[in-house]
Amino acid sequence: MPPILGSKRPKNLKRTAKQFLHYLGRHKILLFIVAILVTISALANLLGTYMFKPIIDEFANPESDNFKNLWQGILLEACIYLCGALATLGYTQIMVYLAQKVIFELRRDMFSKMETLPLSFFDHQTHGQIMSNYTNDIDMLADSMNNAFAMLISNFIQIAGLFVLIFILNWLLSILCTIFYIIIFIYVLYASKRAKKNFEKQQEAMAQLNGFVEESLSGQKVVMVFNHEEENIKQFIEQDKYLQKVGEEALRYSFSMIPFVVSVSYINYAVVAIIGALLALNPVLGVTFTLGSISTYLVYVRQATMPINQFTQQSNLLLGGLAGAERIFHLIDETPEIDDGTVTLVNVKEADNKLIEVNEKTNTWAWKKSDDSLEKLKGDVRFYNVDFGYYENKLILNDLSLYAKPGQKIAFVGSTGAGKTTITNLINRFYEINSGSITYDGIDVKDIKKQDLRRSLGIVLQDTHLFTGTIKDNIKYGKLDATDDEVIAAAKLANADSFIRRLPDGYNTYITGDGANLSQGQRQLLSIARAMIADTPVLILDEATSSIDTRTEALVEKGMDKLMEGRTVFMIAHRLSTIKNSNAIMVLDHGVIIERGTHEELLAKKGIYYKLYTGALELD
Ligand SMILES: Nc1ncnc2c1ncn2[C@@H]1O[C@H](COP(=O)(O)OP(=O)(O)OP(=O)(O)O)[C@@H](O)[C@H]1O
Ligand SMILES: [Mg+2]
Repeated sequence: MPPILGSKRPKNLKRTAKQFLHYLGRHKILLFIVAILVTISALANLLGTYMFKPIIDEFANPESDNFKNLWQGILLEACIYLCGALATLGYTQIMVYLAQKVIFELRRDMFSKMETLPLSFFDHQTHGQIMSNYTNDIDMLADSMNNAFAMLISNFIQIAGLFVLIFILNWLLSILCTIFYIIIFIYVLYASKRAKKNFEKQQEAMAQLNGFVEESLSGQKVVMVFNHEEENIKQFIEQDKYLQKVGEEALRYSFSMIPFVVSVSYINYAVVAIIGALLALNPVLGVTFTLGSISTYLVYVRQATMPINQFTQQSNLLLGGLAGAERIFHLIDETPEIDDGTVTLVNVKEADNKLIEVNEKTNTWAWKKSDDSLEKLKGDVRFYNVDFGYYENKLILNDLSLYAKPGQKIAFVGSTGAGKTTITNLINRFYEINSGSITYDGIDVKDIKKQDLRRSLGIVLQDTHLFTGTIKDNIKYGKLDATDDEVIAAAKLANADSFIRRLPDGYNTYITGDGANLSQGQRQLLSIARAMIADTPVLILDEATSSIDTRTEALVEKGMDKLMEGRTVFMIAHRLSTIKNSNAIMVLDHGVIIERGTHEELLAKKGIYYKLYTGALELD
């Protein structure tokens, strides 16, 4: 059996139901109308049957004017059933609207929450598992809302009403019926408990399978390169089999309910019919039966099978839906990124050596502190004794201290896994540090509102990502209100303009699948252009030019030099030639800065950097 990631989660039906009702509760008026219509529909059904009694009794009475009363009775029945039908139509239509609305709200809340979650959340699950929340879990919930929710209430009313009415008609016989119903109830309870457990497993297994398919898709090339197709199919089948097994278990229990309920109901019917007939002939304990009573009674007993049957089916459907809802709420309840920063980034203009906050765009920025004082954005970044690890017990960065004054170009070099990307992840607060502090223009980054902090940083990530859309849209991602001229200027600076113009639709060329139709280097050029258009005082370039040929790289650098003027730049590059003219180079090894200085200083030192540069050493 493949491991099920979510199986450790608490299965709290009561809490899930409460949360779900909270969503439904936002539409109180509609729910109230549904409740009324459901009641009308259920009562109409009960009353319709009950009215047979006087009609039959009238008809069997030789003294009455049978036909006149018969017509009246039939007309009354027609009215009752028409009311019932209209009420049913009404509540099903409202429920369709309600279900779609609630599902819309859940999807919206789930996505909004997802956008606020810390990166560490995504480190621990596959994308497919999260996707499963949006597809499979939502589907289950929508299905149960459309088909079960109102019907369940209706059936409950019908069952309760039927009970009352059969007791009114004949209490003695009803005691016997109750015994049968209790037997049914106990079995239904047992089977639905088992079914529910398996429904939850099914949802989790489905999420696991989705995750596997998603990974196979995104890593299709690697699968092919290593001839892993068969191994992949084997793994898939294993997971698929498990899903089949739990799905089967869930349905086995839920479908065993119907035949059980039907069989016991038929036995009940037969027993009641026989005893009822005997009672009609020989009253016991003063209990008698008229012809009308016995036929109505039998109709009720037969009728009871349907709501009980449906009740079991729908409670299953509802349980399945709630299993989906539980997983959805699990995502919605995740703790968002901590952001208690109060310092914001505002546009300012300078007048008489004073900063004044303005609403229009000035391209001059300042930090606005909680006491409303303004501090010009300069781009001074410092680390003080920073310790950090992705997991609690494993430090990646050890007592790291460094500073970058405004306009300085700081480079990190070091072996793979040394912690270079990690440092940049901390500046933009993708992760929280364990101890020490990081300041930006003298302000602790924890005090800066995350969005504003990230707005002040232009970042080219090590792994480029392009979105589905045109090239222009992708560059504009760095500045949503950029004009076409700005897009072209940024592309020119990044030296991307010439290749873009050679594409079939130029800047309007559509990119899909993370830019699969572009070369790796072209993707990097686009992400550089995207960072350039953002025009930020601090730039972080993580292997930004690693896939670009040296000639193009030289051109990009030329463009960037212009851009970098007056900006603080953190640069990570394996190709040491690209960082030669940095103000400071930090040589990192296992999360510790082992050397620092300018290119010349480090060469003169004849230490690790010297050996790296001359090719005499590879860090390990
Ligand atoms: N999201 C993460 N969760 C847990 N550990 C991580 C995560 N990202 C990186 N690490 C670990 O942190 C260490 C430093 O990784 P980092 O990405 O900073 O290296 P790097 O110096 O940028 O290497 P490269 O030159 O290959 O890009 C590595 O040992 C890596 O295993
Ligand atoms: Mg890296």
